[in-house]
Amino acid sequence: MMNEYISEMVAQEDKSTAEHSGRVAKIADILGRALRLSESELLTLDEAAKLHDIGKIKVDVKILQKPARLTDEEFAEIKKHTVYGFTMISPKDDMIASLILSHHERWDGSGYPNGLSGCNIPYLSRVIAVADSIDAMMSDRCYRKALSWSQCLDELDKNRNKMYDPKVVDAAFVCQAMIFNALCAD
Ligand SMILES: [Fe+2]
Repeated sequence: MMNEYISEMVAQEDKSTAEHSGRVAKIADILGRALRLSESELLTLDEAAKLHDIGKIKVDVKILQKPARLTDEEFAEIKKHTVYGFTMISPKDDMIASLILSHHERWDGSGYPNGLSGCNIPYLSRVIAVADSIDAMMSDRCYRKALSWSQCLDELDKNRNKMYDPKVVDAAFVCQAMIFNALCAD
């Protein structure tokens, strides 16, 4: 299932999303092992991490790649990628679809699309959220430069209990060298 969608992304020239998703899956795997997930949970996590932004296929590329500040309407459209991804994947796999739906929820309930908080957010979505943020902060974006590794760790720490499950942030600190090396190897 996964490969078919990833090739679709590449075919649609959304290469940066496909590459980002590959790195998110690597980071999520490191976090998942530190959190002692089972082998079957790690497989689910890998698949959901690789597909987490699949719904961006349905968002206008002009909005995705806009180098300037987004309008409220444009931001609302980008946020829909969670629901688009859910709708695309749910006929094939409910579990993966629900993880995709919740990857932008935040620990304090300020995320989207449903404003879930704490342990109401599926556990593996909380792992993907941290992996996703790490890769996003460590990458140049059209509207800003990448952060340094120490700035990235500071942000994770500042946002524990706000954006992120503190337990997942702890795991990121425990295996920070492995994550940094994985990003450098890419
Ligand atoms: Fe996303």
